[in-house]
Amino acid sequence: MSEVKLADAVNSRRTFAIISHPDAGKTTITEQLLLYGGVVREAGTVKARKSGNFAKSDWMEIEQKRGISVTSSVMQFDYEGKRINILDTPGHEDFSEDTYRTLMAVDSAVMVIDAAKGIEPQTKKLFQICKMRGIPIFTFMNKMDRDSREPMDLIGELEEVLGIEAYPMNWPIGMGKELKGLYDRYNHQVTLFKSGEGANADSDHLALDENGDLSDDEELKQDSWYQDARDNMELIEDAGNSFDEDKIISGDQTPVFFGSALANFGVKTFLEIYLKYAPRPAAHSTQNDGEIEPTDENFSGFVFKIQANMNPNHRDRIAFVRICSGKFTHGMDVTLERTSKKMRLSNVTQFMADTRENVDSAVAGDIIGLYDTGNYQIGDSIYTGKNDVKFDKLPQFTPEIFVRVSAKNVMKQKSFHKGIQQLVQEGAVQLYTSYSTGDYILGAVGQLQFEVFQFRMKNEYNSDVIMEPMGTKKARWINPDQLDEKMGSSRNILVKDRNGDPLFLFENRFAENWFKDKYPNVELSEKL
Ligand code: G4P
Repeated sequence: MSEVKLADAVNSRRTFAIISHPDAGKTTITEQLLLYGGVVREAGTVKARKSGNFAKSDWMEIEQKRGISVTSSVMQFDYEGKRINILDTPGHEDFSEDTYRTLMAVDSAVMVIDAAKGIEPQTKKLFQICKMRGIPIFTFMNKMDRDSREPMDLIGELEEVLGIEAYPMNWPIGMGKELKGLYDRYNHQVTLFKSGEGANADSDHLALDENGDLSDDEELKQDSWYQDARDNMELIEDAGNSFDEDKIISGDQTPVFFGSALANFGVKTFLEIYLKYAPRPAAHSTQNDGEIEPTDENFSGFVFKIQANMNPNHRDRIAFVRICSGKFTHGMDVTLERTSKKMRLSNVTQFMADTRENVDSAVAGDIIGLYDTGNYQIGDSIYTGKNDVKFDKLPQFTPEIFVRVSAKNVMKQKSFHKGIQQLVQEGAVQLYTSYSTGDYILGAVGQLQFEVFQFRMKNEYNSDVIMEPMGTKKARWINPDQLDEKMGSSRNILVKDRNGDPLFLFENRFAENWFKDKYPNVELSEKL
């Protein structure tokens, strides 16, 4: 690919994740976006996958039983000259570690909020990761076809709870059964809501005059809902934030769109404005060579997620790679930075929209899935070219609950160790080793991760494991130079993480405070 072509291809990419609390409407809006992209032809396709109709393996049983989504995937489609990659994030709280990491591989995020509920705990957690990365966030206030909270309260809450400037791009005229339309501040029009219009719900527009008032339609003009929306818009125009593209790009301002994913109302406008302001693939910083521009001819990328293959009879896995620069071609040789080994990328999944031109290549911004037999780890960098490329470390998310784990059958230590090593590499759970006893301790963000671990150890490695719950703990890392093994006790268990770094697992806040009083000079740190 020539330089110009590569730049064009890269600049057309928009890679984002949708973040939300379960049930806010992530699946529904994803589906509408895929419909616009022509990838699915019927509403309900993604839903069917979510409800388990497409999930075939035993492992998925857990998912079905608990009614949550364990896996996450990548969906790609083209729309008006842009190639869009949506990275699905597992919605349940128990899987937030995986979800967090997915956010490391996107250039922006769409936050879907149930307008009847406002900001819910999971949205807040995910938002904080986006904020930490400084990525742009676009907000969709969903379910306006139902009675929701006052729009002004929702905007206020967004600003207060999340500490971000909100810029409403439109304002609902009514809500629930009284939903009349959207006052579209951005396109300077009113879009009428016609229930039951399906994919055409966005099609009926009324122009606004230079004062921002309806030019005709006296009836709507007299409607109290319209007047209310108009007043609120005026108030916001006078006293609210001004639209600031730089702030959007730095993640300090979020454009807010009201609408209804289910009624497909406001979704198309949202998509079009989103594509206008969402950033193209960003440069990525490395530990050894400054920043790498996405248009650099050399290929590079990092593994942000490893997922076991759906087939329990095979132990192969898929390593998801975010391409950071250059272009991927089938069969290319890359260097795996951690081992300096040459790897041939011949067995690769691409997440392409069905039958379009150029389907044989992926460029910076895209995601590829490498079939893996155990070579890759989360955080690995791969690259072509002479210069060694080592991308910044992915943050480790501090686990909150812990179990002590051992093999039920002591004769089967080999498969136990192998299973643990591989599953830990996938990053679903964190492994710690006790300094005093050498015991294995697992840490996770949610209980379900342990259940999945136990299930997979049995099914994939034929290893029954015993898990003794240790409850919640506070993991705090300690500077190795300050470490004295005598500092450990049953209330602050001294362990090593998988990099060999020492940390304490404190029983609770009191145990931590007690420790700090006793050793005032010892620095404790919490990794995010
Ligand atoms: P999630 O992926 O964020 O978990 O949410 P999902 O899209 O599955 O939506 C959760 C529920 O909210 C679904 O209802 C869905 O139909 C509904 N929903 C989503 N968007 C809207 C909206 O704009 N308006 C209204 N009124 N409802 C919406 P469900 O009863 O759980 O599923 P189903 O029976 O509809 O399949």
